[in-house]
Amino acid sequence: MSHDLSTRASDARELMDDPDADIAMLERTYERFRVVNALVSGPGEFYRRDIRPRARRGPIRILDIGAGGGDVCRMIAAKLQRDRLTAEITALDADERAIRWAAGHDGGSGVRYRCALSEELVAEGQQYDIVFSNHLLHHLTEQELQSLLLDSRRLVGEDGIVVHRDIARSRAAYALYSAVTWLLSGTLFRGSFIREDGLISIRRSYTSKELASIAPSGWTVRFALPSRLELRRDAGTGR
Ligand SMILES: C[S@@+](CC[C@H](N)C(=O)[O-])C[C@H]1O[C@@H](n2cnc3c(N)ncnc32)[C@H](O)[C@@H]1O
Repeated sequence: MSHDLSTRASDARELMDDPDADIAMLERTYERFRVVNALVSGPGEFYRRDIRPRARRGPIRILDIGAGGGDVCRMIAAKLQRDRLTAEITALDADERAIRWAAGHDGGSGVRYRCALSEELVAEGQQYDIVFSNHLLHHLTEQELQSLLLDSRRLVGEDGIVVHRDIARSRAAYALYSAVTWLLSGTLFRGSFIREDGLISIRRSYTSKELASIAPSGWTVRFALPSRLELRRDAGTGR
């Protein structure tokens, strides 16, 4: 089926967001996020550029908002451990099914798992050196996105940074993801929502231009190949 990707499909619903979603399919999806993220999300580059330099100055606190299966947090924890650096990492998700699965598959990484919304952490006065998200922005309406940006800004101190990473909506991204996941739908991604939800995610995603027009001043949007976006707020850009 062909879709018009010139506008954001904000009404399309991901199957994993359905409270009645098949639990076995959902859990397989959390498990397979690890493969998808290793291939497309560039956690190594994020670690080298943004996390490691700060962790080298001393112990830091990191928050992942919308952590899903928690694999990005565990990858970061493993890299910090390899480099003998210290951080307290919290994987936050609003969906208790995600947190239950992630905590149950942690394998001793030291990541903390919490089911809550970012606004609850703001109300508690929590502060982090790095707040990030991966593949969260496309789940949100423009209003929810504005609230997330406000919360994440409040959750980092003067010297903290916020990095929200996601897919950039484009016909090329849709065609490439469709072809690759079609080839793997009977094997690697069988019994999961990876193919169907991934295609919906791309249709729901923002373009760099849309993100730049929504984000308040102080935020910057970066585009990276193959079809990635990064909305960030660096230290020292004012409160
Ligand atoms: C597509 S998953 C991405 C998971 C993970 N970050 C990854 O990259 O694999 C998006 C997750 O965001 C969570 N989520 C959606 N809206 C949220 C919100 N307002 N606050 C916290 N988590 C949220 C969903 O429950 C879901 O687990």
